[in-house]
Amino acid sequence: MAWTVAGKTILITGASRGIGFEAGVALAQLGARVVLVGRDRARTDAAVDAVRSRTGARVTSYLCDFSSQASIRELAAAVRRDHPVLHVLVNNAGGVQKRRTVTVDGLETTFATNHLGYFLLTNLLLDIVIGSAPARIVTVASVGHRSGTIHFDDLGLEDGYGILKAYSQSKLANVLFAAELARRLDGTGVTSNSVHPGSVDTNIWTGTPLWAKPIVAVLLRPWFITAEAGGATIVQLAASVDLDGVTGLYFEKQKPVAPSAAAENRATATRLWEVSAKLVGLEPQATAAARRP
Ligand SMILES: NC(=O)c1ccc[n+]([C@@H]2O[C@H](COP(=O)([O-])OP(=O)(O)OC[C@H]3O[C@@H](n4cnc5c(N)ncnc54)[C@H](OP(=O)(O)O)[C@@H]3O)[C@@H](O)[C@H]2O)c1
Repeated sequence: MAWTVAGKTILITGASRGIGFEAGVALAQLGARVVLVGRDRARTDAAVDAVRSRTGARVTSYLCDFSSQASIRELAAAVRRDHPVLHVLVNNAGGVQKRRTVTVDGLETTFATNHLGYFLLTNLLLDIVIGSAPARIVTVASVGHRSGTIHFDDLGLEDGYGILKAYSQSKLANVLFAAELARRLDGTGVTSNSVHPGSVDTNIWTGTPLWAKPIVAVLLRPWFITAEAGGATIVQLAASVDLDGVTGLYFEKQKPVAPSAAAENRATATRLWEVSAKLVGLEPQATAAARRP
Protein backbone atom coordinates (compact mmCIF):
# COMPACT_ATOMS: atom_id res chain seq x y z
CA MET A 1 0.00 0.00 0.00
CA ALA A 2 1.21 3.55 -0.67
CA TRP A 3 0.60 6.24 1.94
CA THR A 4 -0.28 9.90 1.74
CA VAL A 5 0.15 11.33 5.24
CA ALA A 6 3.80 12.34 5.70
CA GLY A 7 3.81 15.85 7.22
CA LYS A 8 0.01 15.92 7.50
CA THR A 9 -1.86 16.66 10.72
CA ILE A 10 -4.19 13.91 11.95
CA LEU A 11 -6.42 14.16 15.01
CA ILE A 12 -7.57 10.89 16.59
CA THR A 13 -10.16 10.73 19.36
CA GLY A 14 -10.17 7.84 21.84
CA ALA A 15 -6.41 7.58 21.37
CA SER A 16 -5.45 6.81 24.97
CA ARG A 17 -5.67 3.08 24.29
CA GLY A 18 -7.07 0.41 22.00
CA ILE A 19 -7.60 0.89 18.30
CA GLY A 20 -7.17 4.66 18.38
CA PHE A 21 -3.82 4.43 20.15
CA GLU A 22 -2.45 1.84 17.72
CA ALA A 23 -3.65 3.92 14.77
CA GLY A 24 -1.76 6.85 16.31
CA VAL A 25 1.46 4.83 16.49
CA ALA A 26 1.13 3.61 12.90
CA LEU A 27 0.25 7.03 11.49
CA ALA A 28 3.15 8.64 13.35
CA GLN A 29 5.43 5.96 11.88
CA LEU A 30 4.20 7.04 8.44
CA GLY A 31 5.37 10.58 9.20
CA ALA A 32 2.08 12.20 10.21
CA ARG A 33 1.85 14.80 12.98
CA VAL A 34 -0.57 13.07 15.27
CA VAL A 35 -2.83 14.81 17.72
CA LEU A 36 -4.11 12.38 20.33
CA VAL A 37 -7.32 13.04 22.24
CA GLY A 38 -7.98 11.15 25.47
CA ARG A 39 -10.21 11.59 28.47
CA ASP A 40 -7.94 10.64 31.34
CA ARG A 41 -4.78 12.70 31.95
CA ALA A 42 -2.52 9.82 33.06
CA ARG A 43 -3.61 7.42 30.27
CA THR A 44 -3.33 10.15 27.63
CA ASP A 45 0.14 11.25 28.78
CA ALA A 46 1.25 7.60 28.76
CA ALA A 47 -0.09 7.22 25.20
CA VAL A 48 1.79 10.34 24.06
CA ASP A 49 5.03 9.08 25.66
CA ALA A 50 4.58 5.65 24.05
CA VAL A 51 3.96 7.08 20.55
CA ARG A 52 6.96 9.40 20.94
CA SER A 53 9.28 6.66 22.15
CA ARG A 54 8.13 4.14 19.52
CA THR A 55 8.26 6.55 16.57
CA GLY A 56 10.32 9.60 17.52
CA ALA A 57 7.45 11.68 16.10
CA ARG A 58 6.13 15.03 17.24
CA VAL A 59 2.91 14.34 19.16
CA THR A 60 0.44 16.68 20.82
CA SER A 61 -2.58 15.83 22.94
CA TYR A 62 -5.79 17.17 24.42
CA LEU A 63 -8.26 15.96 26.98
CA CYS A 64 -11.97 15.73 26.25
CA ASP A 65 -14.94 13.92 27.74
CA PHE A 66 -17.11 13.16 24.73
CA SER A 67 -20.16 12.65 26.92
CA SER A 68 -20.10 16.41 27.62
CA GLN A 69 -20.92 18.93 24.90
CA ALA A 70 -19.14 21.68 26.86
CA SER A 71 -15.99 19.55 26.91
CA ILE A 72 -16.26 18.94 23.13
CA ARG A 73 -16.66 22.67 22.53
CA GLU A 74 -13.55 23.36 24.65
CA LEU A 75 -11.61 20.75 22.66
CA ALA A 76 -12.74 22.23 19.34
CA ALA A 77 -11.75 25.73 20.43
CA ALA A 78 -8.28 24.52 21.51
CA VAL A 79 -7.74 22.55 18.29
CA ARG A 80 -8.84 25.52 16.17
CA ARG A 81 -6.41 27.76 18.08
CA ASP A 82 -3.43 25.39 17.77
CA HIS A 83 -4.08 23.58 14.49
CA PRO A 84 -5.56 25.81 11.81
CA VAL A 85 -4.74 23.04 9.35
CA LEU A 86 -6.22 19.58 9.90
CA HIS A 87 -5.94 16.99 7.14
CA VAL A 88 -7.56 13.99 8.80
CA LEU A 89 -10.11 13.77 11.61
CA VAL A 90 -10.60 10.28 13.07
CA ASN A 91 -13.79 9.95 15.15
CA ASN A 92 -13.08 6.88 17.28
CA ALA A 93 -13.81 7.52 20.98
CA GLY A 94 -16.63 5.34 22.19
CA GLY A 95 -17.81 2.63 24.48
CA VAL A 96 -20.69 0.67 25.94
CA GLN A 97 -22.87 1.22 29.00
CA LYS A 98 -24.23 -1.81 30.86
CA ARG A 99 -26.98 0.24 32.46
CA ARG A 100 -28.81 3.31 31.17
CA THR A 101 -27.07 6.47 32.34
CA VAL A 102 -27.57 10.10 31.45
CA THR A 103 -24.90 12.67 30.60
CA VAL A 104 -24.48 16.16 32.04
CA ASP A 105 -26.52 17.32 29.03
CA GLY A 106 -29.42 15.02 30.01
CA LEU A 107 -28.89 12.57 27.12
CA GLU A 108 -28.47 8.79 27.14
CA THR A 109 -24.72 8.24 27.45
CA THR A 110 -24.11 5.77 24.59
CA PHE A 111 -25.92 7.87 21.99
CA ALA A 112 -24.41 11.09 23.34
CA THR A 113 -20.83 9.83 23.38
CA ASN A 114 -20.66 7.47 20.41
CA HIS A 115 -22.79 9.49 17.99
CA LEU A 116 -23.33 13.08 19.14
CA GLY A 117 -19.67 13.29 20.15
CA TYR A 118 -18.60 12.56 16.57
CA PHE A 119 -21.32 14.81 15.17
CA LEU A 120 -20.53 17.86 17.28
CA LEU A 121 -16.73 17.70 17.04
CA THR A 122 -16.86 17.17 13.27
CA ASN A 123 -19.17 20.10 12.72
CA LEU A 124 -17.12 22.39 14.97
CA LEU A 125 -13.94 21.56 13.01
CA LEU A 126 -15.50 21.25 9.56
CA ASP A 127 -14.40 24.60 8.17
CA ILE A 128 -10.73 24.02 9.02
CA VAL A 129 -10.88 20.49 7.57
CA ILE A 130 -12.44 21.89 4.38
CA GLY A 131 -9.77 24.60 4.35
CA SER A 132 -7.11 21.85 4.55
CA ALA A 133 -8.50 19.83 1.60
CA PRO A 134 -7.68 17.34 0.23
CA ALA A 135 -8.71 15.98 3.61
CA ARG A 136 -10.47 13.01 5.15
CA ILE A 137 -12.92 12.30 7.95
CA VAL A 138 -12.87 8.73 9.26
CA THR A 139 -15.72 7.45 11.40
CA VAL A 140 -15.16 4.29 13.44
CA ALA A 141 -18.49 2.46 13.44
CA SER A 142 -19.10 -1.28 13.93
CA VAL A 143 -20.58 -4.31 12.24
CA GLY A 144 -22.95 -4.08 15.24
CA HIS A 145 -24.78 -1.34 13.30
CA ARG A 146 -26.44 -4.17 11.35
CA SER A 147 -28.72 -5.00 14.27
CA GLY A 148 -29.38 -1.34 15.05
CA THR A 149 -32.47 0.84 14.71
CA ILE A 150 -32.68 4.59 15.22
CA HIS A 151 -35.47 4.90 17.78
CA PHE A 152 -36.51 8.42 16.80
CA ASP A 153 -39.46 8.33 19.23
CA ASP A 154 -37.21 7.25 22.10
CA LEU A 155 -33.57 8.03 21.23
CA GLY A 156 -32.68 7.90 24.92
CA LEU A 157 -34.19 4.39 25.24
CA GLU A 158 -36.21 5.35 28.31
CA ASP A 159 -38.86 2.75 27.39
CA GLY A 160 -36.50 -0.20 27.42
CA TYR A 161 -32.74 -0.03 27.67
CA GLY A 162 -30.34 -2.75 26.60
CA ILE A 163 -26.59 -2.54 26.17
CA LEU A 164 -26.73 -3.97 22.64
CA LYS A 165 -29.80 -1.92 21.71
CA ALA A 166 -28.00 1.26 22.75
CA TYR A 167 -24.65 0.32 21.18
CA SER A 168 -26.13 -0.84 17.85
CA GLN A 169 -28.27 2.32 17.63
CA SER A 170 -25.17 4.48 18.18
CA LYS A 171 -23.11 2.54 15.62
CA LEU A 172 -25.91 2.68 13.03
CA ALA A 173 -25.93 6.43 13.68
CA ASN A 174 -22.17 6.46 12.90
CA VAL A 175 -22.68 4.85 9.47
CA LEU A 176 -25.64 7.12 8.64
CA PHE A 177 -23.67 10.18 9.80
CA ALA A 178 -20.59 9.36 7.72
CA ALA A 179 -22.68 8.82 4.58
CA GLU A 180 -24.73 11.98 5.08
CA LEU A 181 -21.53 13.93 5.77
CA ALA A 182 -20.06 12.65 2.50
CA ARG A 183 -23.10 13.96 0.61
CA ARG A 184 -22.90 17.34 2.38
CA LEU A 185 -19.16 17.59 1.64
CA ASP A 186 -19.57 16.90 -2.07
CA GLY A 187 -17.25 19.17 -4.03
CA THR A 188 -15.16 20.27 -1.02
CA GLY A 189 -12.26 17.84 -1.45
CA VAL A 190 -13.02 16.28 1.93
CA THR A 191 -13.99 12.62 2.02
CA SER A 192 -16.04 10.84 4.68
CA ASN A 193 -16.10 7.08 5.19
CA SER A 194 -16.93 4.72 8.04
CA VAL A 195 -15.27 1.50 9.13
CA HIS A 196 -15.80 -1.62 11.23
CA PRO A 197 -12.35 -2.25 12.73
CA GLY A 198 -12.98 -5.97 13.31
CA SER A 199 -13.61 -7.73 16.61
CA VAL A 200 -10.62 -6.36 18.44
CA ASP A 201 -9.06 -7.32 21.75
CA THR A 202 -9.43 -4.01 23.60
CA ASN A 203 -10.74 -2.60 26.85
CA ILE A 204 -14.22 -2.10 25.35
CA TRP A 205 -15.04 -5.75 26.06
CA THR A 206 -14.63 -5.21 29.83
CA GLY A 207 -18.02 -3.49 29.53
CA THR A 208 -19.66 -6.83 28.68
CA PRO A 209 -22.41 -7.74 31.18
CA LEU A 210 -21.64 -10.63 33.54
CA TRP A 211 -24.05 -13.04 31.80
CA ALA A 212 -22.34 -12.51 28.44
CA LYS A 213 -18.73 -12.82 29.62
CA PRO A 214 -18.52 -16.63 29.09
CA ILE A 215 -19.98 -16.24 25.58
CA VAL A 216 -17.39 -13.60 24.73
CA ALA A 217 -14.58 -15.67 26.27
CA VAL A 218 -15.46 -18.94 24.52
CA LEU A 219 -17.13 -17.97 21.25
CA LEU A 220 -15.67 -14.58 20.36
CA ARG A 221 -12.26 -14.06 21.98
CA PRO A 222 -10.50 -16.83 20.00
CA TRP A 223 -11.32 -14.85 16.83
CA PHE A 224 -10.33 -11.44 18.14
CA ILE A 225 -7.69 -9.52 16.23
CA THR A 226 -5.05 -7.40 17.95
CA ALA A 227 -5.51 -3.69 18.61
CA GLU A 228 -2.69 -3.11 16.13
CA ALA A 229 -4.64 -4.94 13.40
CA GLY A 230 -7.77 -3.01 14.37
CA GLY A 231 -5.80 0.23 14.18
CA ALA A 232 -4.64 -0.71 10.69
CA THR A 233 -8.23 -0.40 9.44
CA ILE A 234 -8.22 3.25 10.53
CA VAL A 235 -4.79 3.78 8.98
CA GLN A 236 -6.08 2.50 5.65
CA LEU A 237 -8.98 4.98 5.59
CA ALA A 238 -6.85 7.85 6.90
CA ALA A 239 -3.76 7.33 4.79
CA SER A 240 -4.01 4.98 1.82
CA VAL A 241 -3.33 6.64 -1.52
CA ASP A 242 -5.78 4.16 -3.04
CA LEU A 243 -8.60 5.92 -1.20
CA ASP A 244 -7.85 9.41 -2.52
CA GLY A 245 -11.22 10.92 -3.41
CA VAL A 246 -13.14 7.83 -2.26
CA THR A 247 -16.12 8.91 -0.17
CA GLY A 248 -19.47 7.82 1.25
CA LEU A 249 -18.46 4.18 1.80
CA TYR A 250 -18.54 1.72 4.69
CA PHE A 251 -15.60 -0.69 5.14
CA GLU A 252 -15.27 -4.15 6.69
CA LYS A 253 -12.10 -6.24 6.53
CA GLN A 254 -10.45 -3.31 4.72
CA LYS A 255 -12.89 -3.47 1.79
CA PRO A 256 -15.91 -1.33 0.96
CA VAL A 257 -19.12 -3.31 1.54
CA ALA A 258 -22.81 -2.49 1.69
CA PRO A 259 -23.92 -1.56 5.20
CA SER A 260 -27.37 -2.57 6.49
CA ALA A 261 -30.45 -1.40 4.60
CA ALA A 262 -31.23 0.93 7.51
CA ALA A 263 -27.79 2.51 7.12
CA GLU A 264 -28.46 3.21 3.44
CA ASN A 265 -31.76 4.98 4.06
CA ARG A 266 -31.23 8.61 3.04
CA ALA A 267 -34.39 9.87 4.72
CA THR A 268 -33.21 8.37 8.00
CA ALA A 269 -29.77 9.94 7.55
CA THR A 270 -31.25 13.38 6.90
CA ARG A 271 -33.64 13.09 9.84
CA LEU A 272 -30.84 11.93 12.14
CA TRP A 273 -28.68 14.88 11.04
CA GLU A 274 -31.47 17.35 11.82
CA VAL A 275 -32.30 15.78 15.18
CA SER A 276 -28.60 15.62 16.10
CA ALA A 277 -28.08 19.28 15.18
CA LYS A 278 -30.93 20.22 17.53
CA LEU A 279 -29.58 18.06 20.35
CA VAL A 280 -26.16 19.74 20.18
CA GLY A 281 -27.53 23.24 19.57
CA LEU A 282 -26.36 23.76 15.98
CA GLU A 283 -28.44 24.94 13.04
CA PRO A 284 -28.83 22.01 10.56
CA GLN A 285 -28.00 24.26 7.59
CA ALA A 286 -25.02 25.81 9.31
CA THR A 287 -23.61 22.40 10.18
CA ALA A 288 -23.27 21.55 6.51
CA ALA A 289 -21.41 24.71 5.62
CA ALA A 290 -19.08 24.62 8.62
CA ARG A 291 -19.56 26.78 11.65
CA ARG A 292 -17.33 28.34 14.29
CA PRO A 293 -17.69 27.20 17.92
N1 LIG B 1 -12.97 -3.50 20.01
C1 LIG B 1 -13.88 -3.93 19.12
O1 LIG B 1 -14.07 -5.15 18.93
C2 LIG B 1 -14.66 -2.93 18.31
C3 LIG B 1 -15.53 -3.42 17.31
C4 LIG B 1 -16.26 -2.52 16.56
C5 LIG B 1 -16.13 -1.15 16.78
N2 LIG B 1 -15.29 -0.70 17.77
C6 LIG B 1 -15.20 0.75 17.98
O2 LIG B 1 -13.84 1.14 18.05
C7 LIG B 1 -13.73 2.38 18.78
C8 LIG B 1 -12.57 2.28 19.75
O3 LIG B 1 -12.84 1.26 20.69
P1 LIG B 1 -11.73 0.28 21.28
O4 LIG B 1 -12.12 -1.09 20.93
O5 LIG B 1 -10.37 0.77 20.95
O6 LIG B 1 -12.04 0.44 22.85
P2 LIG B 1 -11.14 0.97 24.08
O7 LIG B 1 -9.85 0.26 24.15
O8 LIG B 1 -12.06 0.91 25.25
O9 LIG B 1 -10.83 2.48 23.67
C9 LIG B 1 -11.86 3.42 23.62
C10 LIG B 1 -11.27 4.80 23.59
O10 LIG B 1 -12.34 5.76 23.63
C11 LIG B 1 -12.16 6.58 24.79
N3 LIG B 1 -13.45 6.98 25.35
C12 LIG B 1 -14.48 6.20 25.72
N4 LIG B 1 -15.46 6.97 26.22
C13 LIG B 1 -15.04 8.24 26.18
C14 LIG B 1 -15.58 9.49 26.55
N5 LIG B 1 -16.78 9.61 27.14
N6 LIG B 1 -14.85 10.61 26.34
C15 LIG B 1 -13.63 10.53 25.79
N7 LIG B 1 -13.05 9.39 25.41
C16 LIG B 1 -13.75 8.26 25.61
C17 LIG B 1 -11.36 5.73 25.76
O11 LIG B 1 -10.76 6.54 26.75
P3 LIG B 1 -10.26 5.90 28.16
O12 LIG B 1 -8.87 5.38 27.93
O13 LIG B 1 -10.31 7.05 29.09
O14 LIG B 1 -11.23 4.81 28.53
C18 LIG B 1 -10.38 5.08 24.81
O15 LIG B 1 -9.36 5.97 24.45
C19 LIG B 1 -15.11 2.59 19.43
O16 LIG B 1 -15.82 3.58 18.70
C20 LIG B 1 -15.79 1.23 19.29
O17 LIG B 1 -17.20 1.35 19.22
C21 LIG B 1 -14.56 -1.56 18.53
